[in-house]
Amino acid sequence: MEEKNSNQQILAAEEQAYSSAARIKYYDIVIDKGQGALITDVDGNEYIDLLASASSTNTGHAHPRVVKAIQDQAAKLIQYTPAYFANSQAARLAPRLAALAPISGPVEVGWGNSGSDANDAIIKFARAYTGRQYIVSFTGAYHGSTYGSMTASGVTLNMSRKMGPLLPGVVKVPFPSPWDKLEKESEEEFVDRLFAAFMQPFETYLPAEEVAAILIEPIQGDGGIIKTPPAYMEKVYRFAKQNGILFAIDEVNQGLGRTGKWWSIQNFPGIEPDLMSVGKSLASGMPLSAVVGRKEIMESLGPAANTYTTAGNPVTAAAANATLDVIEEEHLVERSAKLGQKAKDFFEQEQAKYDFIGDTRMYGLNGGISIVNPATGKGDIEATTKLMYRIFELGAIIISLRGNILRFQPPLVITEAQLAKAFAIIDQAFSELAAGKLALPKNAEELGW
Ligand SMILES: Cc1ncc(COP(=O)(O)O)c(C=O)c1O
Repeated sequence: MEEKNSNQQILAAEEQAYSSAARIKYYDIVIDKGQGALITDVDGNEYIDLLASASSTNTGHAHPRVVKAIQDQAAKLIQYTPAYFANSQAARLAPRLAALAPISGPVEVGWGNSGSDANDAIIKFARAYTGRQYIVSFTGAYHGSTYGSMTASGVTLNMSRKMGPLLPGVVKVPFPSPWDKLEKESEEEFVDRLFAAFMQPFETYLPAEEVAAILIEPIQGDGGIIKTPPAYMEKVYRFAKQNGILFAIDEVNQGLGRTGKWWSIQNFPGIEPDLMSVGKSLASGMPLSAVVGRKEIMESLGPAANTYTTAGNPVTAAAANATLDVIEEEHLVERSAKLGQKAKDFFEQEQAKYDFIGDTRMYGLNGGISIVNPATGKGDIEATTKLMYRIFELGAIIISLRGNILRFQPPLVITEAQLAKAFAIIDQAFSELAAGKLALPKNAEELGW
């Protein structure tokens, strides 16, 4: 048996040698094991995981099919670099993923190790194919931590502070977040106003014919789980098509069943990307990503323009093949939609009960719950911190986005009983906040984004 408080001891030792740039702090736990939607720390405390390792374990922790695929492949061949020779797992995966992509016509894929490098690859292929240099992305976006993807991101100053110059040629426009809507403004007026802001660079300094791609998360993840208003998406898409600009989407967080569809872009009928990035849950959390795009775009660069020694590694590719089997055979896309409806109903009922719940957004088993000060309607970071910490104490892992949004993204295999238990925990925390019973944790200042 581990001694009680192994969590603290291990963390204290790790802290001596671990860069604070590499962790967003939440709870002082060291995760030891996981099964389905449950995780256990080194002291044996069990939690319902409402984060799914940042949406990277949609099939749940240690899914037996995925575990077996990894073990079997590891015993045969752990690595031979796909940069030089094909391996049977990755070779099988490529056409499978290409066929799943929401892109008509011939599609090709290229492997990476992270969502970040898949987004960098989007920039490379878009520039090569169009012969244009500019990329347009959105505030509130999180595309990753490499220079290209970080430059395209716009969610926290800590991702650009002290590290410039960033990648040249990336222009950011405001994402239409619900809290930017003015009082009494209709949805149509809001869309028109934000689209005018989108157009401003194009009308003043950014020649559309020099723009290679518009890169967007159709549903922003780290930005707060926010669906792009469909009418706005339509306008941006039309503008891209009219001007020969590639329409590129980031499906790293919201893809693979998370939104109740295979891909989040499928929540926008009639809109088809030219390029997209996939990662996180692709291999159930093993490091595998992909840039996926129309064949002619993916053929615009030659050998070595997008190779990585371990990308498409046989073990990760075996995990991905098993992951796709599980998503298909266990109907996880449909499950996400069905359980997501339950979650939507639950949070809407809570919203009716508690005036500090400002807005609830749920797309599949995937939601953002804004916590606000009822007097002002503004985001309440303190209340959010109290809530998420209390939920943690009661046995579920939930974190925040943008300080005042609860992030709800359980593994898609969560059982209905586990989900009901999570709702009971969350309701208890809400009721305790309403009764003024919750205090801030001691290290509240350090927690969160
Ligand atoms: C939408 C989106 N794109 C890209 C990334 C970066 O992926 P990775 O952390 O695997 O590099 C993330 C990670 O959170 C993400 O949410």
